[in-house]
Order: sequence, then structure tokens, then C-alpha cells
Amino acid sequence: MAVPFVQDWDLVQTLGEGAYGEVRLLVNRQTEEAVAVKVIDTSQAKECAENVKKEVCIHKMLNHPNIVRFFGHRKEGPTVYLFLEYCTGGELFDRIEPDVGMAEKDAHRFFQQLIGAVEYLHGVGITHRDIKPENILLDDKDNLKLTDFGLATMFRFKGRERLLNRLCGTLPYVAPELLSQTEYKAQPADIWACGIVLAAMLAGELPWDQPSESCQEYSDWLQKKTYLPPWKKIQPMPLSLLSKLLLASPDTRIDIAGIQKDRWFTQGVKQPPASLGSTGNKQLRSDVELISRASSDDRMQFSSSQPDLAAGGWEAMLLIGQTDGQVSFSQPTKPEHMLLGSQLVGTPGASQTPFQRLVRRMTRFFTTVNAESSLSALKDVCNNLGLGFKLTCTKQVTVSTLDKRNNKLIFKVHLLEMDQRVLLDFRLSKGDGLEFKRLFVRIKQKLGDIISTQKILLPIT
Ligand code: ADE
Repeated sequence: MAVPFVQDWDLVQTLGEGAYGEVRLLVNRQTEEAVAVKVIDTSQAKECAENVKKEVCIHKMLNHPNIVRFFGHRKEGPTVYLFLEYCTGGELFDRIEPDVGMAEKDAHRFFQQLIGAVEYLHGVGITHRDIKPENILLDDKDNLKLTDFGLATMFRFKGRERLLNRLCGTLPYVAPELLSQTEYKAQPADIWACGIVLAAMLAGELPWDQPSESCQEYSDWLQKKTYLPPWKKIQPMPLSLLSKLLLASPDTRIDIAGIQKDRWFTQGVKQPPASLGSTGNKQLRSDVELISRASSDDRMQFSSSQPDLAAGGWEAMLLIGQTDGQVSFSQPTKPEHMLLGSQLVGTPGASQTPFQRLVRRMTRFFTTVNAESSLSALKDVCNNLGLGFKLTCTKQVTVSTLDKRNNKLIFKVHLLEMDQRVLLDFRLSKGDGLEFKRLFVRIKQKLGDIISTQKILLPIT
């Protein structure tokens, strides 16, 4: 896609997609500054243009280290471009191992930062209304950044608060009062969603489809059956905080001041004895985590003064190829260079180091066979697993199914041919990200025979 008004900015890759459109990575050819651009097509629904105006109006006023920076926006016909801080660490979702979660100390730190962002937001009278791991990104230092203010609204103005009535958000993260009352308070509903995010980080699964008593898992929670999963996977201290975050009554639910006094929140994780290793109570090591560890190793290699383009560093090479062979880029220091005639807000943050160009994503692998054979192997595996398989163009497949909760799960697989090898890149289009990763791991296991284990890549010429 060509973005005509963006001079000297290369569209490097798609970072994600959602109902609104896509988020893409832009890199400046001269300065190598990087920004994310969210491309919204407002022609689909008539209320869409109004919603985007509100998103811009809210996001541009926000300034907090745990909220994605808003650099500016531009409208071109029905398309609106939002220029945002580029978060090299990807989504929080990619740090959650299905059915396992993540190390408690990491969840603790992310939760503290999430509460920092929400405290700030509520302090300026804004509620996010769609807090979930897909809307939480990470920067190069693994700092949490809340994003997507498409459903955010003002609940306090000049000290006066209003109740909300719009039923919005994402069902597994939605507070029970949204489903049972016509009006609800803004702040407890965001706090509830933070509780669901914490449960997902600590157990690698969402506790329920929706918080209604007809949902078995939710009624089990109301009956305090914490011997069942996901609760039985969670240590007593964070479980005690969860029992206060996920209190059904919004009036008795813990508030931010209460969270800041909680024992686990303030004291954190008891360090396990050194002999048990630094990952604490997590014994399971699945494929997804192993990939994630390989990615951390990539970072080490790129932090050296002589970048070593091995061990999966091909993404950096891809970018180098498109950015004149330079090895570093930064967030824009002069956003006006990028946005001709658009509205600008503030100046962006710290510059990036060479390895920050890596978009750490785990749902991809190389094969040892050509594109045609890769495609036919993928097709066979999809057929075996009963998944819908549709060739959307020569190098892209759309796979669709229903997850275990009967919710739609749709993802795309892009085939990229590079140096005798083919990269299969899986991206979620619709559905639960954890279910997507579970399925990715199953597909990857079934394709084991054609997956490349070779790490060393050819240097660029
Ligand atoms: N995906 C969606 N928004 C993003 C951003 N700002 N940075 C990196 N990846 C993203």
C-alpha cells in the first residue's frame, strides 16, 4: 500500500490488524526513525468517523510512560492515519504461554505498570473500557504501554462523575455489572478488566467467556471454588488480590488505592531458592516459550557492537535491506518531518538501539521446502485438524475455525520466500489470542518434518 503524503517513510511491515484496519511500521529512510501508523477506514460505518475523532481527542491529551504516545493524525478521504509510538516488544499477549502464563515476577511488574497507566487515566477523568492483553504493548525495555483508545470515554469532568450505560468492551474482560445493570461506574469496570489480565498472565487462560451466572466457570468462582483451574495454578498472594479485583459488586471491589496497599502488589514475589532457577514455579516449557527465549537471545546478539546476524536475526536484515544498510533507528525526534500538514502533539521518547528493530513475534517459523510444498503441507494439516483453509492470494492463506468455547477464530498465514527458505508467518485476525497460540503450536508440531532448525543466515550484500 502506498501512503502518498508520507515522504521518505518506508512501510516496513504490518504489525497487527483489527476490526478498524491495520497497524503498520513506518521507518524513515534518512533518519531511521520508527513509528507505528494505525490505518482506519471510516467508510465502513457512519459512526466510525465520529469514533475516530473521539479516539484522537482522548489519545492526544495523554502523557504517561505506560501509555503509547500519540504523535499526530492525518485524514485522507475516508482513511484516517494515527501516528503512534512504535513498541518493539510487541503485545503482552505474546508473553503469555497458553495454559501456563508467565513467571510471577514478570506478571507482577506488568501489573504494577498497568495499574500505573490506569491510575493516570482515571486521574484525568478517562476510562479505557477495553483493557486486555491485545491492547497492551511492550517497549524495548519491556515497559508496558496501554494503547487503543477507540472505546475510551470521559467519565469525570470538572470534578463531576457520570455513570456509563454503553455496553462495550470484550466479553471475557467485561465486568458483571455491565451485563446486569443499565448503568455502571467507569472505574470499577476497568479494575475488573485488569483483574482478568492478571489472571491470564498468571494462568495462561481466561477464567470465563463472560461473567454471567449461566457461565459455569463464573458461577464456580462466585462459589469460591479456587481448587479449580485457572485459580489452582495461582499462588495464594496474587490469588488473594484477584479475589478483591474480581468481586462481583462494583461497590465492594478493590479500588486503585486499595490495590496499592495489597501485600502482593507492594511486596511482590518471594524469590525462589537459586537452585530452582529464576522462573519460579513454572515448570512447564512449551514450544511457545522456547521460541520466546530464542528471541531474547537475538536481543543479546544485537546489543553487541558488531551485530551478529545469526539466530533468527533475519528480521533485522529485512529492515536493513529497506533502510539503506544502517543498523539503528529511533523514534522520530522531529515528527513534523513525517506528517506534512497534519496535527502534531508533543515530542517522542528515547531513541532505539539496533536490536529494537526486531519485532519479537513468536508465531512464525521457517520451512525447509519451497513455497508450494509448504502451502500443501499446511493445507493437509489444516484439513486434518478440521480447519477452514482458504487461499486469499498466492502467498497468503486464511484459516478459520471455532475455538473450544465456540467462538470464531480466524488467522492469516503469510508465506515469505527468503534465501532458499520459506517463512510462515501466522497472524490472528479475529478471536482469542490464547486459543490462536494453542492452535499455532499444534500446527507447528504437525509440520515438524518440514520446519527448519537452521539458525545461521546469509549476511546481506
Ligand atoms: N501493534 C499495534 N500498535 C502497535 C505499536 N504502536 N507498536 C508496535 N506494534 C503495534
